Amino acid sequence: MKNSLKTFLALTLLLLFTACSQEKTARNTPDGKALLTSKCASCHNLEMPPETSPDELAPPMMAVAFHVYDFIKVSTPAEKVPSSIAFVKDYVFNPTKEKSFCDEKSLKDYGLMPSQKGKLSEDEVEAIAIYMFDHYNQENFLKIMKQREILRNIEVGERLARKNGCLSCHGIKKKKMGPSFSAIAQRYKDNSKQISESISLGSQDRWRESRHAKMPSFKQMTNEELKTLSQWIIEQ
Ligand code: HEC
Ligand code: HEC
Repeated sequence: MKNSLKTFLALTLLLLFTACSQEKTARNTPDGKALLTSKCASCHNLEMPPETSPDELAPPMMAVAFHVYDFIKVSTPAEKVPSSIAFVKDYVFNPTKEKSFCDEKSLKDYGLMPSQKGKLSEDEVEAIAIYMFDHYNQENFLKIMKQREILRNIEVGERLARKNGCLSCHGIKKKKMGPSFSAIAQRYKDNSKQISESISLGSQDRWRESRHAKMPSFKQMTNEELKTLSQWIIEQ
């Protein structure tokens, strides 16, 4: 009994200790994202999608990551990311024309990347490389583009609502003469077609609290505008 209690205590201590030391290593792991900014951004643009300029010093980092990932030779797909990371770790310290995946013209325009030896440690390059292929990939790129599109639609939708005076009769959250746009979104969230139709044709007596007030028709609106506006209402 005494012995098993001792073992239990020892185990608990061991667990506590390893938990602590794990936390310590986690805290000591270099931050790939911050390092990429401080060590590589002076030449490589880091935005995704990238901002390119005619006098840029190096290809944008997204292009580098996509490029390396596409061109690296591996025998199984599972090796793609580890091999790409290994390539970057080597290239940063030992760049050569032969190793570069850049075509001849780009190499001539940019010049070969200067070796970064002495500017950062191997661990730091590894953290950067891990972050690169975790961040700059097809999946994240598509996600960002999709978010941008939603944001753009929201902006265009709101502009249309203001331009057409919708907000003089509808609040976003508050009802005015007409129901609030969030109440409309609630009712028609699976039926944006009905929203388009009512904007185009007008509406009456669908909302009791509007007491027979009439929603004017907006016949002049194009289908495109109706779609964007309905989508914007659904987002509320
Ligand atoms: C002084 C400017 C400069 C800095 C700083 C710099 N690079 Fe580069 N890098 C370049 C240029 C120029 C090229 C394109 C020519 C080439 O492939 O060598 C390049 C190319 C690369 C390539 C090869 C791309 C390919 O398609 O073959 C990798 C990988 C790379 N850089 C990673 C990094 C990382 C990671 C950092 C930060 C630790 C960094 N670079 C910092 C200038 C720089
Ligand atoms: C003059 C005031 C007024 C203006 C301007 C107005 N609405 Fe309305 N809207 C109403 C009223 C009142 C109702 C409630 C009608 C009802 O009970 O069917 C309504 C209802 C709606 C409905 C719900 C219709 C349904 O089928 O349930 C939508 C969608 C709508 N409005 C969108 C808009 C949009 C978009 C604009 C701008 C292009 C706009 N409204 C401009 C007064 C207005």
